[in-house]
Amino acid sequence: MNNPPVNSRLAVYPGTFDPITNGHADLVTRAAPLFERIVVAVAESSGKGPGFSLNERIALARLALADLPNVEVRGFNVLLATFVAQIGAGVILRGLRAVSDFEYEFQLASMNRHLIPQAETLFLTPAEQYSFISSSLVREIGRLGGDISSFVHPAVQQAMRQRWRQHSTATEGDTHA
Ligand code: COA
Repeated sequence: MNNPPVNSRLAVYPGTFDPITNGHADLVTRAAPLFERIVVAVAESSGKGPGFSLNERIALARLALADLPNVEVRGFNVLLATFVAQIGAGVILRGLRAVSDFEYEFQLASMNRHLIPQAETLFLTPAEQYSFISSSLVREIGRLGGDISSFVHPAVQQAMRQRWRQHSTATEGDTHA
C-alpha cells in the first residue's frame, strides 16, 4: 500500500550536470536502448554552488542529448526519492567511473533504497576515455583557457566560453576601479 507500483522501463538519471559532459552523455546513450524512457533529472543542488543556473544546466543537457528520442531532461528541487516516486520510475541510473566513486554511490543507493524501496539503482560504467572526466575539472580547464572540446558538447563549450568572458570582463572592471 505504501509502495505504489513503479515502471521498470522508466529510468531516472539524476545529477547536478554543472555542466553536462560527454561522460554523462555516453552513459545516457548506453542506457537509452535498455529503457522505454529515461528522464535525465537535473538537481538544483544549491548547496554545491553550481556555476550554471538550474535553467542553464537543463537547456545545455537538452542540447547535448537532443539526438536521443526517448530521453527527456527535467529539473527537480525535491528529494530524489520524491521525484522518482512522483514520476513512477522503477530505476535510478548512476555511473561508476572508478573505485573512488563506489563509497559515495553505495551510500546514495542504500539511502535511496531506504527512501523508495520499490526503485532499484542500476550502475553503468562509461567508456574508458570518459572515466577521468568530471564537471569541476572541465570547469577549471575551461576557466583557465584549456581545450575542453573533447569533453563537452559544442553548445556547452560555447556557454562556458561566454561565461568566462563575462567573468573576466567583470574582474577587469574591478581591477581598474
Ligand atoms: N561522466 C562524467 N562525469 C561524471 C559522470 C560521468 N558518467 N558521473 C558522475 N560524474 C561527475 C560529475 O560531473 C560530478 O563532478 P563534480 O563533482 O566535479 O562536479 C561528480 O561526478 C558527481 O556528480 P553527480 O553525478 O552530478 O552527482 P552529485 O553528487 O552532484 O549529485 C544527486 C547527486 C543529484 C543524485 C544527489 O545529490 C541527489 O539526489 N540530490 C537531490 C536531493 C536528495 O535527494 N538528497 C538525498 C540523496 S540520498
